[in-house]
Amino acid sequence: MLISWWFLYLAARNIIDQTLDMASVLQKLIMPMFSGPAEPPRNKVTVVGVGQVGMACAISILLREFCDELALVDVMEDKLKGEMMDLQHGSLFLKTPKIVAGKDYSVTAHSRIVVVTAGVRQQEGESRLNLVQRNVNIFKHIIPQIVRYSPNCILIVVSNPVDVLTYVTWKLSGLPKHRVIGSGTNLDSARFRYLMAERLGIHPSSFNGWILGEHGDSSVPVWSGANVAGVNLQNLNPDIGTDADQENWTETHRKVVDSAYEVIKLKGYTNWAIGLSVADLIESLMKNLNRIHPVSTMVKGMFGIGDEVYLSLPCVLNSNGVSSVVNMTLTDDERAQLKRSADTLWNIQRDLKDL
Ligand SMILES: NC(=O)c1ccc[n+]([C@@H]2O[C@H](COP(=O)([O-])OP(=O)(O)OC[C@H]3O[C@@H](n4cnc5c(N)ncnc54)[C@H](O)[C@@H]3O)[C@@H](O)[C@H]2O)c1
Repeated sequence: MLISWWFLYLAARNIIDQTLDMASVLQKLIMPMFSGPAEPPRNKVTVVGVGQVGMACAISILLREFCDELALVDVMEDKLKGEMMDLQHGSLFLKTPKIVAGKDYSVTAHSRIVVVTAGVRQQEGESRLNLVQRNVNIFKHIIPQIVRYSPNCILIVVSNPVDVLTYVTWKLSGLPKHRVIGSGTNLDSARFRYLMAERLGIHPSSFNGWILGEHGDSSVPVWSGANVAGVNLQNLNPDIGTDADQENWTETHRKVVDSAYEVIKLKGYTNWAIGLSVADLIESLMKNLNRIHPVSTMVKGMFGIGDEVYLSLPCVLNSNGVSSVVNMTLTDDERAQLKRSADTLWNIQRDLKDL
């Protein structure tokens, strides 16, 4: 009897050993404790457009370590795959466990934030309106797909002309206005703070100054609020920001407006500063920080603006998107400049077709 039990035991051992021999290294190494379906991502970010700006946004987002999945989308499949692989190969140095890419928008599913950097550039002799209309046609393909796969996302538009395209995105997406944001003058303000701080010999975070309105040529520097440690610069020099100023501080704003053109002339495009600035916005949204950023939002009803236009104002950003807008005390001249920006944008928007 004992001998037959012994043979049975040996036979069973043999089967177990054989099964273990057939098992893969993975099965031998890792003992699963849970075998349910994979959890959907909780902090996923998608970047649409993997050009210079899109990739600068992607790397800045990865280095800030606040997402658990990054998705990339573009129409250029080889470039897209190459960019995805290159980032994946850096995984050892990153804390984002999943980086995916695809032409099909299903890769973007469950995104909390979607950054749109896709678009075409202005061709020689092309009117601004024509460029806008070409980008509108591209956005008509992109935006509904994003919303289809991530109906609860917050959209950040970066493509230019950013204020008009943010309005276009709002219209095409059907999302509430607080969840459609343009990067707006966030970059212009960062450039302003850098240039002013350089002149004062301090860090940019210690110079408090805002550039509002339209991103680019007609942006509005709020000289009345520029301060360092609460010391208002206009109190020290009442002419600051005007042509009468002997110290020519207004030159700093002119440099801000020219800086994109200058960088593009030197290296062909701008990308690092916009990438860093977009990642900063995403941190406020992801972490529900309630920090205030100058970003493009729907301003109808504010500062005497009656049309549906997107312009930059100081916005409180949290996990809902733009939770509120700061009612800045502006001078009559600053208000008039904002109104002029709004009129310029509305004149472009009202001629757009098929929105
Ligand atoms: N808001 C700002 O402060 C700011 C700053 C810098 C640049 N920009 C703007 O960002 C945009 C991108 O600039 P860039 O230098 O990266 O340009 P780029 O030409 O290098 O990249 C654009 C990318 O968009 C892709 N694309 C085109 N059509 C697409 C579609 N239908 N779907 C998905 N992807 C598509 C292209 O394949 C390309 O990879 C431009 O509009 C530029 O003016 C904005």
